[in-house]
This record gives sequence, C-alpha cells and structure tokens, in this order.
Amino acid sequence: MEILDGKKLANAIHEEVAQSVLTLKHESGRVPGLAVILVGEDPASHVYVGMKRKACEKAKIYSIVHEMPEDISQEAILNTIEMMNNNPNIDGILVQVPLPAHIDQTTILEAIAPHKDVDGFHPFNMGRLVLGLDGFVPCTPLGVMRLLAAYGIDPKGKNAVIVGASNIVGKPMASLFLNAHATIDVCHIHTQNLKAHTLNADILVVGVGKRNLITADMVKEGAVVIDIGINKTPEGKIVGDVDFDAVAPKCSYITPVPGGVGPMTIAMLLENTLISAQKRA
Ligand code: GUN
Repeated sequence: MEILDGKKLANAIHEEVAQSVLTLKHESGRVPGLAVILVGEDPASHVYVGMKRKACEKAKIYSIVHEMPEDISQEAILNTIEMMNNNPNIDGILVQVPLPAHIDQTTILEAIAPHKDVDGFHPFNMGRLVLGLDGFVPCTPLGVMRLLAAYGIDPKGKNAVIVGASNIVGKPMASLFLNAHATIDVCHIHTQNLKAHTLNADILVVGVGKRNLITADMVKEGAVVIDIGINKTPEGKIVGDVDFDAVAPKCSYITPVPGGVGPMTIAMLLENTLISAQKRA
C-alpha cells in the first residue's frame, strides 16, 4: 500500500506556479488576479477561503476577497461579479458555495464570465468538459486526476466508481474518468446496494461527507481509494469518508485525510488562475 501524498504534490505545484507567475510578470508586467466572493458566516467556507487566500499570497497571485453578509441581495452579488468580469486585473472569479437559501446559485454562477470561471462551475465550462473539449475544470476532480497521474495510475480500461453525484465533484469527476477511457459508476443517496458497486471499483472516489461510509468489506483487494470527504469527529479530528485504518491495508494506493485531495484542490485553483492570466497576457 502506498499513500497518495497530495500535500507534497500540491507544494511542488505551488512552487511551479510561483515560478510561472514571476515569468509572466517579467514578460508582460501582469500579475494573475483572483477575486473570491464569500457570502455569510459558514465556518467551513471561511476556512476554505482563508486557505485559498494564503495559497495565492505564497504564489504571489493577487487576490481579493469580497465578504458579504448573509442577508445580501442577489442583485448586489451580481453587481460585484459584473465589476470583476470587467476588471482587467482579475483573471479568476470564484463564488464560494453553498450560498444562502434566498440566493439562486445557478443565476450567480452563470453570471461569471466563462473565461474567468477558474472553478469551472459555469454551464459553458461544464458542457465543454462533458464534450471532452478544453476549458476550466472544477478544481477538486481535476486535482484527483493530477494526483493519479503523478503516481502513474492510468484510468484507461479501469472501473472507476464515484460515490457522490454533486455538481462540483461527482459529476465533473465522472466526465474526467470517461474522457480518460475508464468505465464509470456514479453512486448517490438513492443507490441501492452501494457495496455491490464499490466492490467492483479499481479506482474508488468518495466524497459525500459521511464518516466511515466506506468500510473494508466494501473495497476490492488492490483498489486505488481516493477520499474527498471532510468530517470532524466529536474530538475535533478531521477525517474523510473512508475508514482509513481498516481500508488502507487492502489498497494499492490511498489518499490520507487531511493531506490528500484537499491541498490538490487549492493547487489546481492557483494553476487555473495562472492559465487564465497567461491567456490574457
Ligand atoms: N465549496 C466547496 N468546495 C468548493 C470549491 O471548490 N469552490 C467553491 N467555489 N466553493 C466550494
């Protein structure tokens, strides 16, 4: 069993991005810029946005966080997005989700200019991903693919099973695996007999936010297991969706939580922002 060390790979990508930022600045005088919109007081969202801001700082990417109160109007958010769409110093716009219930998430995400949509959540970029065309790809599933590639794991011809069918993880993950010529199962809350699916997985990707959802009896010997879940135990420890201690001995490769997919998500955000700036320069 080998650990898929997302933290180490992400650190290497951060350094590469920082180098490319310097080159871009030298050649064009431009510094990549990321605008983040954060609505409300969700503690997890504040932690994630704080991590994104710090990572930008380290890579010398300019970042600005627009913090807005929980009761902000949809129009005010749309106005801010419009300003960022038209701001020549901004290459990437990211709206942290979830948004409060009175805000229509689709309307907000569709307002982001697709060429600044570094999260890849806009229907334009999602559509291109499904069609196998280039465009911005959501950072978490993109990070999974990069992590697999770094360890020489090729999904081609493999059974890739995804547990969780969200717009930001499960659905784009399925498209990426299909584009990489894997056979895919996408499981979700209404899936009957989850274990029948997971036992068939050469590559198992889990991201639902339920501690110990995946136990050792659900995993095939030699599988690659990718854990995207983030859960807090009553003792305050961060754990994934996979019962790591019991499952790890059966795996060929497995991601830890923390230190697996999480850091890769942020590394891909920096890379997407850099690419957007390079295209603009
Ligand atoms: N909420 C949870 N993950 C993400 C992410 O990757 N991007 C944004 N914008 N919101 C999120």
